[in-house]
Amino acid sequence: MPRKSLYDVAAPLYGRLVPGFVERTLSRAVQRVSTGSPETLLEVAIGPGHTIPLLQKRTSARSVAVDTSRAMLKLAQGKASSIAMELAPVQGDVLNLPFKTSSFDAVLSTFLVDVIKRPKLEQSLSEMVRVLAPGGRVVIAQLHISSRLINSVWDFAHSLLPESLGFVRPVDISDLFSGVGLRLIQDEVIDEAIGTRVTTLMAVRSSWT
Ligand SMILES: C[S@@+](CC[C@H](N)C(=O)[O-])C[C@H]1O[C@@H](n2cnc3c(N)ncnc32)[C@H](O)[C@@H]1O
Repeated sequence: MPRKSLYDVAAPLYGRLVPGFVERTLSRAVQRVSTGSPETLLEVAIGPGHTIPLLQKRTSARSVAVDTSRAMLKLAQGKASSIAMELAPVQGDVLNLPFKTSSFDAVLSTFLVDVIKRPKLEQSLSEMVRVLAPGGRVVIAQLHISSRLINSVWDFAHSLLPESLGFVRPVDISDLFSGVGLRLIQDEVIDEAIGTRVTTLMAVRSSWT
């Protein structure tokens, strides 16, 4: 039997916990990804599916969800079934998404890039761009580096207790966008606490990638 990941173990708790700033951020991110009326939408690292009721309200896109954690996908699927929303759950890794190139009109990812190790961030974004159709929209929500001092505190805590933090630490990914063929069209701060911003970034895939 494959070893359970931290997120498999944490899924039941994570499924019940939705801090206010997460709720506000997910709501904004779903609003952003839905404008543009995508017909197909991929949510990368859907977790327990906090976005599902929001997606059902805002878009009629055919939705596919990917996550490495089977337990998270099970919760997300259960949430979708409970409100009669169609969702195709797929177990997979953002570093090697199990979908063909240009398969989706929109890609949504909330609080994933802040758990990906730095050297893999560019590859994660490249994969999201690969599966996105030219002109398609990507919306990414994240904890964002806002101050050097606070960032060093995060880095220190992360180096000591990465698992207790759920591997989370703030990142700044906007400088990676043009290299992977994304054009940033909006960078919005949703919340700010103890020097750490929560942002949603919206970008479109350039037609030449
Ligand atoms: C902090 S949770 C965020 C969940 C959800 N997007 C939300 O905003 O509530 C991170 C999620 O990323 C998933 N995850 C971690 N590494 C991943 C990877 N390499 N590829 C896909 N999913 C991953 C975890 O299983 C977990 O469900």
